[in-house]
Amino acid sequence: MPKIAVFDTKPYDRPGFERYGKEYGIEFKFFETKLTEDTVALAAGFDGVSPFVNDEVSANVIQALYGYGIRLIAMRCAGYNNVDVRAAEGKMAILRVPAYSPYAVAEHAMAMLLTSIRRTHKAYIRTRDFNFTLNGMVGFDLHGKTIGVVGTGKIGRVFIDICRGFGMRVLAYDPFPVADGSIEYVPLEALFAQSDILSLHCPLTEQTYHIVNRESIRKMKTGVVLINTSRGALVDAEDLVEAIKEKKIGAACLDVYEEESDFFFEDFSGHIVRDDVLARLISMPNVLITSHQAFLTEEALNNIAETTARNIRDFFEGLPSPNAVCSLPEREKTPQHQRA
Ligand code: NAI
Repeated sequence: MPKIAVFDTKPYDRPGFERYGKEYGIEFKFFETKLTEDTVALAAGFDGVSPFVNDEVSANVIQALYGYGIRLIAMRCAGYNNVDVRAAEGKMAILRVPAYSPYAVAEHAMAMLLTSIRRTHKAYIRTRDFNFTLNGMVGFDLHGKTIGVVGTGKIGRVFIDICRGFGMRVLAYDPFPVADGSIEYVPLEALFAQSDILSLHCPLTEQTYHIVNRESIRKMKTGVVLINTSRGALVDAEDLVEAIKEKKIGAACLDVYEEESDFFFEDFSGHIVRDDVLARLISMPNVLITSHQAFLTEEALNNIAETTARNIRDFFEGLPSPNAVCSLPEREKTPQHQRA
């Protein structure tokens, strides 16, 4: 039975992994700590590791894992920008969960947008204090507004369908457009110039790093609402703060933040947060932040656990996987890595 070290685990991760571990014959050991150069030694003696979005799977971590005889990194997420894939190539397999619930993320993006523009988060607090005034609560209709969607993959397409249901005009940008002709693609510059609301659904790559920055913000409509449920580093957070102060950006809905790995998923309520950009964003009345929560539905957690367990089972049975970011080369395959 393969033994897998699961890093950065939370109580809500365990039930699914315990269930599918039994079903697929895998022993999961849960570590609350993140996988980093300082903690990688915990993986010694295991047959594989399972990191999440904020684990630091750097070249040094990969080298250490390799030294322990580990040949499998079974990501529990879709994105793998936190993995040094080049360092792993030729040494170990990286598997991922390409889709666990595009609906979870797309629905959360819309939940944030509606909350932000209709101020329901403020109304909740106000009415609990028996304050029934409406001052400062004026929102705007989504119907008839133009929304720009960057990235029309699984999540972007679900989000587009949701927006259409609200009677919005949808524009999209993607270097690899969907061929069915149902989506109105425009160049990125036109998307920035025409959108009342902008939602990011592309992966973090060299091309998309800081795709929202001082220069691109200048091309946007004054008062644009920005939604980012993809990866924090798509947005230059310091430029965002400046643009909100200048009232160029009307509101921001952020489920991700460039420096989130230091904070997100943890309780800092009794601490002085030392990240001034994050503190400034949180202090702004038109910024709504959730802590990388968009994926967090029962359906998604179940799919993550099942797909990760299946990926691990397939790896140890020597089966090719459609979920491989990179595969284990033949020369690295030893009986130790074939223990079905
Ligand atoms: P996907 O791979 O199905 O779609 C990504 C799309 O982005 C593709 O159509 C691709 O062609 C496009 N793209 C690539 N480079 C681009 C560029 N330079 N400009 C515009 N578009 C570009 O991925 P999926 O499942 O839709 O996820 C999108 C992103 O959502 C993931 O990369 C991940 O970062 C994020 N995510 C966030 C979660 C959360 O809890 N907040 C959970 C799951 C994913």
